[in-house]
Amino acid sequence: MKEFSGRVAVITGGASGIGLAMAHRFADAGMRLVLADIEEPELDRAVEELRSAGTEVVGVPTDVADHDAVVNLRDKTLEAFGSFHIVCNNAGVVGRSIVDSSIDTWRWVVGVNLYGVINGCNVFLPTLVEQGEGHVVNTASLAGLRGNALLGVYCTTKFAVVGLSEALYEELQASGSKVGVSVICPGFVKTRIAQSGRNMPAHLRAAEPDPEILAPAVSAGIPASEVADAVFDAVQSDRLYVLNHKDMARAALDQRLSLMFEQGG
Ligand SMILES: NC(=O)c1ccc[n+]([C@@H]2O[C@H](COP(=O)([O-])OP(=O)(O)OC[C@H]3O[C@@H](n4cnc5c(N)ncnc54)[C@H](O)[C@@H]3O)[C@@H](O)[C@H]2O)c1
Repeated sequence: MKEFSGRVAVITGGASGIGLAMAHRFADAGMRLVLADIEEPELDRAVEELRSAGTEVVGVPTDVADHDAVVNLRDKTLEAFGSFHIVCNNAGVVGRSIVDSSIDTWRWVVGVNLYGVINGCNVFLPTLVEQGEGHVVNTASLAGLRGNALLGVYCTTKFAVVGLSEALYEELQASGSKVGVSVICPGFVKTRIAQSGRNMPAHLRAAEPDPEILAPAVSAGIPASEVADAVFDAVQSDRLYVLNHKDMARAALDQRLSLMFEQGG
């Protein structure tokens, strides 16, 4: 996409971290915004912050794991602005290791991180494809490129988001569509992701309080604005992969190749 001013971006997980930073970056380019989030007070605060800086923005409380809620998000977007052009499927939560996770933890993390992206693609893509213009931005992670011992459930979902995004990119290219796709694969970014247990369903939070194992690494991460700048460049130049930690991404892929080919398989 080359034209941003007056166009509409929809951002899930838009009340915090990378989602909020993308909102500010798109607002700087003159876009109108729809922010979706499960945390309503934070969502109201983010909407107010952007509105008081002169951006046309609406907030739609949304649980991205719920397909009906994402249909409502699209309908509210069309009610407010009549169209949409960039859809960022960004909401995410962490979870824990595979051995330690109950099936409820699996359902929560897969629901938000993977079904959130599936629902966003399923609901918004047909209109983008029909209008022949637009861009889908899916948030994965470096953990979608290489398995991590502490984050097995998270890795499962992020590998799937990388696969979905790459396949969608190929599918749209093959059909000659002008709709673009980008997938974000950062290492640590300074956000509230280590506290994602705050958004656990209440019964799960009581049974399996979140150990916040990522807190020290996340607080030493890069600013979310760096990811947002890279996303903006990728949308503008129609690039699939958004890699803020290029050396770490290359090392992750090298480690996978070595696991595949140097263990005598
Ligand atoms: N921070 C990092 O180090 C890092 C690294 C790689 C990838 N990511 C990914 O970036 C994305 C954004 O996370 P962040 O780091 O900005 O964290 P964050 O916690 O600051 O923001 C995540 C947002 O998603 C929202 N959310 C959670 N569950 C939701 C649901 N069911 N429906 C709608 N919204 C929901 C939260 O309320 C929050 O506003 C996530 O997909 C995360 O996996 C983060």
